[in-house]
Amino acid sequence: MRKKIVAGNWKMNTLPAEGVELAENIRADRNQVCSCVNFIVCPPFTHLGGVIEALRGSDIEVGAQNCAAEDKGAYTGEVSAAMLAALGCRYVILGHSERRQYYGETSATLNKKMAQAFANGLQPIYCVGENLEEREAGRHFEVVKTQIEEVIYNLTPAQFARTVIAYEPVWAIGTGKTATAEQAQEIHAYIRTILREKFGAAADETPILYGGSCKPSNAPELFAKEDVDGGLIGGAALKAADFLAIGKGFPQK
Ligand code: 13P
Repeated sequence: MRKKIVAGNWKMNTLPAEGVELAENIRADRNQVCSCVNFIVCPPFTHLGGVIEALRGSDIEVGAQNCAAEDKGAYTGEVSAAMLAALGCRYVILGHSERRQYYGETSATLNKKMAQAFANGLQPIYCVGENLEEREAGRHFEVVKTQIEEVIYNLTPAQFARTVIAYEPVWAIGTGKTATAEQAQEIHAYIRTILREKFGAAADETPILYGGSCKPSNAPELFAKEDVDGGLIGGAALKAADFLAIGKGFPQK
């Protein structure tokens, strides 16, 4: 049985006190959702201490949205994986399309960040996904394959076992356009196939999350699909009620 995960990527939203309040609100109503669902929140760096404190003793995990590629030293403005781990983060989002697109993150950078995450006990949520032009040209499989091969194929089996994958089609992020459940399933199954080619049956345990305009109304249809193990949520993660409602979208078994 694969883990069911609903992860919130808050991006650059909320002020620190608002972030703590959001975390408190999620915590307050968390028991309305099956304990079989794993909730993760990924606030901005500045909020991490307060949010971790607010969630202490609950089963809601905390992740960062990025980490440095180096371990420490003269890298002004960077935040190391060791710092995040020391604070109490368990996860780190790596390779989000916004980081690839606006901050020039390449597979070379991401290999270093993945190594930093693992060296410090953090579990990466590694994002892949094609843009609109690539989708329209029918290149989405190829794009995602390259993003997986250039980074995930470099992991050891032990590292791979601690990795979460998120498929986020760039054209669906923040646009209100969701991939159909069929489109999501098709590419999630494909991702699992290429993971299986390298890591064998371990790929059957890897959570593969869908991200891109996922909300309470479309989560049930997406999560009903065999290879969709949850969601990486942007906008809808900023309202406690919506975030939790997405967690109710898993099929009842
Ligand atoms: P939206 O849910 O706002 O489309 O964002 C998705 C995303 O990028 C999560 O990482």
